[in-house]
Amino acid sequence: MSMNKIKVTVNNKVYEKEVDSRTLLVDFIREKLGLTGTHIGCDTTNCGACTILLDGKPVKSCTVLAVQANGKTITTIEGLSHGKELHPLQKAFLDKNGLQCGYCTAGMIMMAHWLIRKNPEATRDEIREAISGNICRCTGYDSIVDSIQEAARSMIPEEEEEMVTKQRGR
Ligand code: FES
Ligand code: FES
Repeated sequence: MSMNKIKVTVNNKVYEKEVDSRTLLVDFIREKLGLTGTHIGCDTTNCGACTILLDGKPVKSCTVLAVQANGKTITTIEGLSHGKELHPLQKAFLDKNGLQCGYCTAGMIMMAHWLIRKNPEATRDEIREAISGNICRCTGYDSIVDSIQEAARSMIPEEEEEMVTKQRGR
């Protein structure tokens, strides 16, 4: 076993931890940090349940080693809400029936978050393409696309969100 010290910022909090060089990022997030909102569906890069944002870009965290995240910024589903106040994406998934069992939901939402930031006016086709690496066994996808479009309509621009976040002291 080869241990390495890594420093990562996860949901605005800095962690310094020893990790085995073979530890997957998803296992690090779930087991070392206790952030179990990120799910493991396949462990083989197929399902997207483990999607998180690494330096703002979506990655399947079962395909990245924890040591590769050293010095980087990670956002998981736990980083989206403000206390008990749900993020617009979480609210839209609830309101538009974008989830049933919920297993895929964290990964879907992280992918959708990246898409909306990049393209707030994404069409249904563009949304479908963006989530094409995220598998849902329950919903048939229409309600997920509805949820993402609904959230895009209600999300404030990124610069404004950053200002609100600063004001909240996060
Ligand atoms: S658990 Fe990572 S893609 Fe399925
Ligand atoms: S809601 Fe069950 S897998 Fe997507």
